Amino acid sequence: KVLSLSILSLAVAATSAQARDYDEIRIGVDVPYEPMEYRTPDGELTGFDIDLGNALCAEIGIQCEWVVQGWDGIIPGLMARKYDAIMSSMTINDERREQVLFSEPYFTPPSAWFAPATSELEETTEASLEDLTIGVQRGTLQDNYVTDMYGDVADVNRYATADDMVLDMEAERLDILFLDYPVGKATLLDSNNRNYKVIGDMITEPKAYFGDGFGIAFRQRDEALAEKFNDALESLEEDGTYDEIHQRYFGE
Ligand code: ARG
Repeated sequence: KVLSLSILSLAVAATSAQARDYDEIRIGVDVPYEPMEYRTPDGELTGFDIDLGNALCAEIGIQCEWVVQGWDGIIPGLMARKYDAIMSSMTINDERREQVLFSEPYFTPPSAWFAPATSELEETTEASLEDLTIGVQRGTLQDNYVTDMYGDVADVNRYATADDMVLDMEAERLDILFLDYPVGKATLLDSNNRNYKVIGDMITEPKAYFGDGFGIAFRQRDEALAEKFNDALESLEEDGTYDEIHQRYFGE
């Protein structure tokens, strides 16, 4: 009995020594990107990514600390070890896969075009967007798409944060903007009193731009850490926690 007990405690010591690398991690996030990541009036971080991230960390049993980082430098910050993961509504695509290791997708919303309710635009073709001013957040897949598709015919205004872009829309300096649908919905449809509307269809193709859903990004060699997050995501999907957090921000 004494022998088996000491073998057991050795085994426990060995596992916790291995897990110690991940007792604590930092997660980079670009704020605000409502309802995914933003601050409450008291300045506390909240949102779908934040709540899901915290629930994943609790499930794994690691301490997680959020580090606010501008979108522009969010992958370089991961490489420079300012933090160990990025959870910031980052879409999984091939270009980024060359730099980072992604978790399984945890949310797959479309992109959409938003314009003032008074806009006469009915579609977003090269002809209809000619000479208009389009807003995007710099360095997003929406920036890449708009630049490639309409950069020659329209003016593209690139913003450091989604908030700056929405402010410029409210100031009537933009004809139309393009971003992740849930963020446009929260900032322009839900909180702007019907002053804005969606133009055309939800956009999910081509995959080369619109990718495979939002993923948590890690450094390439942190496979073990990514695995822990994938396992935890599966557990939270099974036990209803994921649905509960989804409901909190998106209803239904
Ligand atoms: N999903 C888009 C992309 O991956 C935009 C994400 C921007 N996220 C943010 N927190 N500002 O390019």
